[in-house]
Amino acid sequence: MTFEEARALDAADPLAPWRARFALPQGVIYLDGNSLGPLPHAARDTLARTVEREWGERLIRGWNEGWMDAPARVGGKIARLIGAQAHEVTVGDSTSTNLFKLLVAALRRDPARRTVLSEAGNFPTDLHIAEGAVGCVPGAVLKIVARADVAAALGPETAVLLLTHVHYKTAERWDMPALTATAHAAGALTLWDLSHSTGAVQLDLNRAGADLAVGCGYKYLNGGPGAPAFLYVADHLQSALSNALSGWMGHAEPFGFADAYAPAPGMKRWLTGTPAVLGLAALEAGVDLWTEVDQAQVWAKSARLFDILAAAGDALGLECVTPRDPARRGSHISFRHRHAWELTQALIAGGVIGDFRTPDIIRLGLTPLYLRHEDVWRAGEIMEDVIRTDAWRDPAYAVRQAVT
Ligand SMILES: Cc1ncc(COP(=O)(O)O)c(C=O)c1O
Repeated sequence: MTFEEARALDAADPLAPWRARFALPQGVIYLDGNSLGPLPHAARDTLARTVEREWGERLIRGWNEGWMDAPARVGGKIARLIGAQAHEVTVGDSTSTNLFKLLVAALRRDPARRTVLSEAGNFPTDLHIAEGAVGCVPGAVLKIVARADVAAALGPETAVLLLTHVHYKTAERWDMPALTATAHAAGALTLWDLSHSTGAVQLDLNRAGADLAVGCGYKYLNGGPGAPAFLYVADHLQSALSNALSGWMGHAEPFGFADAYAPAPGMKRWLTGTPAVLGLAALEAGVDLWTEVDQAQVWAKSARLFDILAAAGDALGLECVTPRDPARRGSHISFRHRHAWELTQALIAGGVIGDFRTPDIIRLGLTPLYLRHEDVWRAGEIMEDVIRTDAWRDPAYAVRQAVT
């Protein structure tokens, strides 16, 4: 593809107006929105309003004027993005904390099933939290197998299959409906980490029969650094599962101030402490943008952006570790290179912000809401310049072309 062809795609792009909704620094091609999404202008305005008018003027009355409902309200909006019902999603705490809550709940559900099954190379927090969770449930164990062996490793002892739907390094995507069916045939629940999927690929949790899920708010949802995470429990499991982090906000009557814990019905029981109102406000602004977007258009553009960088990588003889088949991947592209760290640094010096994942991966996020085809084409050109000139060997490298 030529630069002119990339620009022609931008001219015809129905998503083009969305770029103006984000603060994007000059001189940067931001290919890291899969790690930390940029600032939506609406989030700046929402935060200012929440701080000044709500916190500043309404003070504690704010709890009765929308703050208390924020976890369920924002959860309901995220539900639409992931193919869930509004009452199946709540928002709060971090992805790690929510993983803990759901893993312990799944382990406690059936005393005959005491194994958490996951894949080697899953995102570290998933495995670390699973290790911690099995340590809290007598007799529970964590079984980690190679990706290719996951389905075969399900058995009568499996309580829950814990997987990251889109792999954080390779962007490889599990077939959620097929694997969920396999897990169910073995009597196990599924717990999906959707951190690299939500706002990246089209999701339909209900149709896939997914049991449990969690996901980050600060990546494709653009909820801001450390944004609250979401947690999904399928309707039919909601009364059967309980939250081990049984704080007062998940109590049926928090302001009854009882000594004994009694879980709230529905998703409210997954709350633990006081909702993080400012974090929720920023996240809501990011999520609100998504509720206006046609996800099919986003996904179609993601595939086009992928093709531009994949072609640039092919021309350079780079090893692309991301599947070429769009149905088998998320919305980033990763290349393996012996000097991936140096190359990533050189790209950043050249204005192309992506990231390095140890030991040898250059990871580039493809976020169609605010990236133009032109940007991604230029990123490919800069990558070519970096590699062909061997400039990455010089730590003081900065590309010659000005990035516009
Ligand atoms: C798959 C996955 N899960 C979880 C996390 C992070 O969880 P937390 O927000 O609890 O740090 C990440 C962060 O990159 C991730 O990629």
